[in-house]
Amino acid sequence: MQLSSQLSRQLCFLRIILISLPLLIIGCDAGDGDGLDENGLAIENTPAAIDLFSRVQSEVFTARCIACHIGASAPLGLDLSEGNAYANIVSVTSTQQSTMMLISPNNPEESYLVKKIRGDSDITGAQMPRNGPPFLSDNQIQLVIDWVNAGAKATASSGAEETINAGAEETTDDNEFVATLSDFTNYASWQAIDYSIDASNPALGTAHKGDDAAYSRRTYKNATAQASTGEYAIGSILVKEVVTWQDGDKEFSPMAGLNAMVKRGGEFNSGNGGWEWFDIASDVTAINGQGADLMGGMCDACHSQAESQTGGLDYVFPYPSEYIASAADFADYEDWELIEKRSDQNSLLGEIAHKADDPDAIRRIYKKQLYAYPDTAEQGYPVGTIIVLEVEQNDAITEVTAMVKRGGTFNTDNHYWEWFMLAPLDLSIMVDDSGEARGANLMGGMCNSCHSGANPTTGDGIDYVFEHKDDPFNHP
Ligand code: HEC
Ligand code: HEC
Ligand code: HEC
Repeated sequence: MQLSSQLSRQLCFLRIILISLPLLIIGCDAGDGDGLDENGLAIENTPAAIDLFSRVQSEVFTARCIACHIGASAPLGLDLSEGNAYANIVSVTSTQQSTMMLISPNNPEESYLVKKIRGDSDITGAQMPRNGPPFLSDNQIQLVIDWVNAGAKATASSGAEETINAGAEETTDDNEFVATLSDFTNYASWQAIDYSIDASNPALGTAHKGDDAAYSRRTYKNATAQASTGEYAIGSILVKEVVTWQDGDKEFSPMAGLNAMVKRGGEFNSGNGGWEWFDIASDVTAINGQGADLMGGMCDACHSQAESQTGGLDYVFPYPSEYIASAADFADYEDWELIEKRSDQNSLLGEIAHKADDPDAIRRIYKKQLYAYPDTAEQGYPVGTIIVLEVEQNDAITEVTAMVKRGGTFNTDNHYWEWFMLAPLDLSIMVDDSGEARGANLMGGMCNSCHSGANPTTGDGIDYVFEHKDDPFNHP
């Protein structure tokens, strides 16, 4: 690094006051080696206690909970995002069991949040995180318990918090976050928010391989970006991955496979929202290019259109949080990639599903967006993924069913899938007594319950999709 270690320590200190404790601890402490006491007045008082809640926030809540527990639509109003979690849980009554606090300081056994992450038998609803397994590791659960036992403090002392806040006010004028390579190292563990697999954004053109169906594009947000409401806070980082699969292995696009935008702030690129643009080596070992005018100013110029799109904001394009399919989405399914053709007696079909009672029936499975890949940690297949199964008997198609990753708040108990029955003749959505044959609970909930068996635990698939030999990545 060209920065002197003194300067880099000062930058780290800036980050304490401007960004957040967890970032500081991950982003600076390790590199500094000798800790932060020279500059970090608040920290030196009681490092351990500060460490605990910021670790609970970053290693548990931000890592595993805010996929759901964020913002106004968080389940039971429980927002666990950075800056909000503490006030929503400590000495706050549980909605599900009103005789208990979510966190009762010094008393983990009377803390309902602890019981929910352990999956105690007397909880209401499911073990958290709701999308497990995997659930939290023993170490992660112990970290929460240790923090509760230590008094469930926000910081070492309220004095420390005030010092930090006072510092932030004093330096608002030269608020600036200067990212270095280490700020990107862990990007793959951040929340993935945008899968943009269908290249439907009108601004995209050939950028980010938007014109090449063999590539999928995914965006990761750091905790600061994730917690921002309205314009992005200084220190926000968004990373864009552009990848394809060759022989089952993930490969980055040779051109700009890994890009990022960082809200730098200060005087930097103030005409364009204070964003700095980055081109990063796909193994995150080098920054290949950075600045306000990267790519001859085209990052700025194209991204400045984001604001004019519904849901776009502050140079960041909108992303599909919910995909509501219509009959037209299925019309050409026979042209999609065929990921399975078989007629054997698959025991997972339980004898009757998908005409399994006919030994001569042929099942063919087609997938749109072949390169839409599951994020096994959290959301599974990207919003907008569509899979169709057709059954052929005596040279005629006799059954067509489909599953669409709808997203949003739809069927949250079953990984956001919507199920469909289509008329084999014209591929319209079939009509049954209750109206159109589509929804979360189609077939009395049996699509959900049988398909929930397709997961890494059983080894039969991923995210409600059974294993198929020609799907590049749903093999366990
Ligand atoms: C996939 C979405 C999802 C994830 C991820 C998730 N939750 Fe939940 N959470 C829910 C839903 C839905 C409910 C209500 C239904 C239930 O309890 O099963 C809930 C309820 C809760 C409740 C009960 C709140 C009350 O007031 O009684 C707590 C506590 C909780 N979650 C904590 C967590 C924690 C801690 C994590 C991360 C370790 C987490 N959740 C991850 C969806 C999620
Ligand atoms: C011609 C338009 C265009 C250009 C040029 C462009 N982008 Fe993008 N970028 C997009 C669109 C559209 C998205 C939205 C996601 C999608 O559809 O893939 C996006 C998404 C991103 C994201 C994720 C955050 C978001 O806005 O969704 C990052 C980070 C990003 N681009 C970085 C860059 C960088 C760095 C450059 C310059 C090297 C660049 N982009 C050049 C159009 C462009
Ligand atoms: C008793 C279990 C069972 C039920 C109930 C069931 N399915 Fe399936 N489904 C399967 C199995 C097993 C496969 C894989 C077939 C194969 O590879 O032979 C499958 C395959 C599929 C596929 C292709 C993607 C995949 O996961 O392989 C779709 C789409 C599908 N089913 C839709 C539905 C819909 C819609 C319903 C409800 C109307 C439903 N299924 C009910 C067991 C079931």
